Amino acid sequence: MNQPLKHLPLRAYDIESIRADFPILHTRMHDRPLVYLDNAATCQKPAVTIAAEKHYYEALNANIHRGVHLLSQQATDAYEASREAVRALMNAPSTQDIIFTRGATEGINLVAQSWGRSTLKPGDEILVTHMEHHSNIVPWQLLCEQTGAVLKVVPIDDDGVLDLSTLDQLLTERTKLFGMVHVSNALGTVNPVAELIRRAHAVGALALVDGAQAIAHTAVDVQALDCDFYVFSAHKLYGPTGVGVLYGRHSLLEKMPPWQGGGDMISLVRFTGSRWNHLPYKFEAGTPNIAGGVALLSAIEYVNALGYDAIAAHEADLLDYATSQAEAFDGLRIVGKAPGKVSILSFVMDGVHPHDIGTILDMEGVAIRTGHHCAMPVMERYGIPATARASFALYNTRAEVDALFAALTKVVKLFRG
Ligand code: ALA
Repeated sequence: MNQPLKHLPLRAYDIESIRADFPILHTRMHDRPLVYLDNAATCQKPAVTIAAEKHYYEALNANIHRGVHLLSQQATDAYEASREAVRALMNAPSTQDIIFTRGATEGINLVAQSWGRSTLKPGDEILVTHMEHHSNIVPWQLLCEQTGAVLKVVPIDDDGVLDLSTLDQLLTERTKLFGMVHVSNALGTVNPVAELIRRAHAVGALALVDGAQAIAHTAVDVQALDCDFYVFSAHKLYGPTGVGVLYGRHSLLEKMPPWQGGGDMISLVRFTGSRWNHLPYKFEAGTPNIAGGVALLSAIEYVNALGYDAIAAHEADLLDYATSQAEAFDGLRIVGKAPGKVSILSFVMDGVHPHDIGTILDMEGVAIRTGHHCAMPVMERYGIPATARASFALYNTRAEVDALFAALTKVVKLFRG
């Protein structure tokens, strides 16, 4: 039964008290204060979430959905409370529509192997965008090899915005699913997913949204979006690694076959055949990451207490501040200039490989990611092997942006004298 998520009072956006909640932000790297700007790869965890995972092992550890003993029931209740928190976060109609996975990647693979493999025929098409993470490309390529379906791609322009002039040609009655990233992890572009979902449905296609990079920055309402599938990873929402969420439209999940067999996903097993458990357990074979699932609830409560509006306003200020410094920085070129983009400053610098930028910044205590960001087609589109990427979270500060640019000035001195 669904219960409304506990309504915590909104907390004032006091950046020093927020930073005090994240123990790792007070560590040092190479004898300098850590400036953590690799949040698109994974976010840091508040002390309440770390404590929730520890508490689980100290006070609740038992297998779930199996034991008649009290400890197992308590563990089950804690895990299912987290599922309810996820349901409320996404405004899904029912906890039956919330499947726990290992991460966004596993959610997409689940849809490809369950829905796709049982549905697609040779000549059917899957449409994705040119700015997808590999996790929303490769599962569809595997599916195409298995079924004879064809993968199509919506191009992007020089700024990192989808070129929707091509959509009428690409999105046709042959399209069976349109997979789209909500926020690009390489460029920061926010895609108009509600409009794209509407366009997909108009030709009879399903719509899957990869929300891995969106969920920490923007409120998501799967009923308002009217998407068929939405995936995210807990670790990009200040929660534990190894836990993810697949929301699916109930009528589709009901019809889809299991994709992994094992314990918990069955109601009856005989050597002559087995019957499947009801939703959501039909898609949850084996013992999951119970501790991580339980701890996710505290991460959701943490974000809710600050509120998405306040988080978005804070991060927009940081991105604007960083963008103006980047634009004024000699020899630096921003990659991805979509209007309204969030959290990501991807860039290249004349005469310096991004990996060298990352290494020198690391010596200054500044952690960024360099490389293709699991989005090689984006790099190919812009004719570059890699970018340097600073990505901002709710606990970053303008002083940390200043530290980034001070370190970049050192890069220039080292490489250009
Ligand atoms: N996909 C993650 C990133 O963008 C790991 O860095």
